[in-house]
Order: sequence, then structure tokens, then C-alpha cells
Amino acid sequence: MAHPSATMSLETQAVHAGREVLHEQGIHAMPIDLSSTYPLHDLATGGQSLESLAMGGLPIGSPVYARLFNPTVARYEQALAQLEGAEEAVAFSSGMAAVTASLMAAKQRGNHVVAVRPLYGGTDHLLDSGMLGLEVTWAEADGIAAAIRPDTAMILIETPANPTLAMLDLEAVVRQAHRVPVLVDNTFATPILQNPLRHGVTLVLHSATKFLGGHGDVLAGLVATNQDWATELRKVRVITGNVLHPFAAYLLHRGLPTLPLRVRAQQEGARVLAERLSRHPAVSAVHFPGLAGQDPKGLMGRQMKGPGSLIAFDLVGGFEAAATVMAEVKLMTPAVSLGSVDTLIQHPAALTHRVVDAAAREHSGVSQSLMRLSVGLESPDDLWADLEQALVKAMARAAAHA
Ligand SMILES: Cc1ncc(COP(=O)(O)O)c(C=O)c1O
Repeated sequence: MAHPSATMSLETQAVHAGREVLHEQGIHAMPIDLSSTYPLHDLATGGQSLESLAMGGLPIGSPVYARLFNPTVARYEQALAQLEGAEEAVAFSSGMAAVTASLMAAKQRGNHVVAVRPLYGGTDHLLDSGMLGLEVTWAEADGIAAAIRPDTAMILIETPANPTLAMLDLEAVVRQAHRVPVLVDNTFATPILQNPLRHGVTLVLHSATKFLGGHGDVLAGLVATNQDWATELRKVRVITGNVLHPFAAYLLHRGLPTLPLRVRAQQEGARVLAERLSRHPAVSAVHFPGLAGQDPKGLMGRQMKGPGSLIAFDLVGGFEAAATVMAEVKLMTPAVSLGSVDTLIQHPAALTHRVVDAAAREHSGVSQSLMRLSVGLESPDDLWADLEQALVKAMARAAAHA
């Protein structure tokens, strides 16, 4: 079978990427290699392979041991590298494992990172904890250049950001970064809506737990980047053991052909809900890049192919109203996480971003009145009926207390 080239459409690549080798082996469906170890009758080549893998390289023949290499995982990595337009991709046991490995690899080059809030609460927590021994400067989007020091090893950003959907102009960030590598968490946009490497970024990170998995049953992380960084990341992965299980890689690869369809269908549902939310009296503000006036930097079309399917919104009734909505929704699930085929709603300040410094959290727009909605594949009318009855109850409860 011909390799799906980068000139083919994303839909074609999503179906075929990473599967070419199977046809060469005479099989159609993806096998799962669950071996934890591999026979090594030739000690000389076995040793060479181990040495190559331990240094972040690829196997010379045998994978040797499952913490060093797994072919099921490698095929998925190849597919995601292709979708992101990267030389290589490296998969990890979770999104946070991918963030940790990226920071550990950065630390080999310098002891300082610059980050822009908001970020996913777990990433913020890791950076703020000092656990990795890195110094962190929290910068505003236009203050990145000023925050850079001679020992700055990485600039870490998210766009659209979790949970506010704040968007950054990647090319403007890269210009400020000058020679410092920029890592972008692309979890919200997915490779279907945004390919940061095309805008000069060095590393693209995904919590593959979200849209890439898409069905709420996988925990995984991924970094797509150039060969040098991929080698460093694999070295960290071998040393720390943050590997992706082959069954998880199988599920991710199995779900990849429907990623473009899922992302676009969920996005259409989100457009409907964002419009309706913006007209509802219980809602004081809606944050959704697809609404009129919410893309002041003109990123739609230039950097993103669409707004995605995450919506953040503020409730007039603040935390109490949000608690009522969480208690009253019936069709959508009140839960953390996002990007699944079913709709999830949550309160970031109390849950995903609870671990963030309170003043910094408020400053970045993650207030007590903010809710985050991840729109799934259900009918938007059914979702709206569910959300609206919960919003009406939130208003009634506030009126009763007044
Ligand atoms: C934007 C973003 N990055 C990273 C992570 C961490 O991923 P994981 O939960 O797979 O460790 C998350 C999790 O919610 C996220 O939303």
C-alpha cells in the first residue's frame, strides 16, 4: 500500500497513517504486541539495540524490552507525527507524563522556563510545585520576550487555553521567543484544527486522553517534534518508564480515522450551544472562539480551522449557580476531562484548576462563576434541553435565596 503522503487530505491521512507496514506484513487490522520482553539469541546485536534505545534512538532489530520500544505504540506515534507535520512523535502514559518528560528534556538545556497562564491546572501545578527543580517565570502573552534569560530552555503555552479558550498568536509567540523552543499544548484544537509546527513552534503536546482517544476510555500523552527533541524525549521515557501501554496505543490508533469527523461534528454542536448560551439570562458571558467578536487577533483561518467544541461560560449566579447546574444536568455528565463523544460539563475553579494559586487563577479568568462545557456528538437540541432546565433551576434557586 502506498504511504499516505502529507499532500493527501487529513481525512485520508487519519485513516491510513501508521498502517502501511501492516499491508507489507499481509495483515489488515492492527495487531497488539503485548510482549514485555523479546528473545535475544544474538547477544551482540541485542546489546547494540539496547544501547541505541537507551540513548533515545530506534531499535537495531529487536525491541529488546517493552519499556524501550513497542511496535504498536510506534505505529501510532508515526501516524500522529504525520498528522502534526512533525518529523517524529513520542507517546507517554498520560498527558502529564508528556509534560513532565518535556520539562525534564528541557532541563538538560537550561534551568528556566517561561509559561503563560492559563494552562491546564495539572501543568500549572507541576510548574509551580518546583518539583522538577526548574525556575518558572509566569509571563503575560506580550511579556514573553522580556521574561527570557540566558538559561531559558523552553516557553510553554496553550492555545486555545484550558479552560478559558484564550487564544495566542503562535507566530507572535515564536517571534518573541527568538531562539528558545516553544512548546504548545494543542489538546483543545487537535491536529485537525491547528498544526502549531507550521507556525514555527518546536514541540506540540497532546493529552491524547481527550479528543485523540475520543471515547473516554484511554489515558495517554503525546509530543510531536523534530528528531533531536524526539530523541531526548525517548531517552527520558526509557529512563523514567512513562511508557504508553500498547493496548492504549491500539485504542488511540483505532479511533484515529474518525477524529476529523468527530472534531467537526462536535464543533457544529458547540456552535449551536454557544449561540443559545449567549442569549440565556442565567449566563453573563460566553467564551467561544466561534462567536462574533471573539477572535480579535484574526486567528481563525490563519492559525485555526475552526473554534473546536469547548465552551466556557460565566453564570450570573456564580458558584452556587454552577453547583446547581452540576447537580441538575441529566444527559450531559458532570465530570472533568473533555473531548469525548459524550458531553461533559465541569467547574474549573473547584475541580481541574483547584490546584492553581487562587490569585493567579482569578487573574487568568478562571473565576468561581466559570463553567467549562465539552460538547459531544449528541443532538444539540437534546443537549440544550438538558442544559436549559439546569440553568432555569439555578436561576430559580438564586431567586428563592434573594
Ligand atoms: C490541555 C491539557 N493538557 C494536559 C492535560 C493532562 O493530560 P492527562 O490528564 O492525560 O495527564 C490535560 C488534562 O485535562 C489538559 O486538558
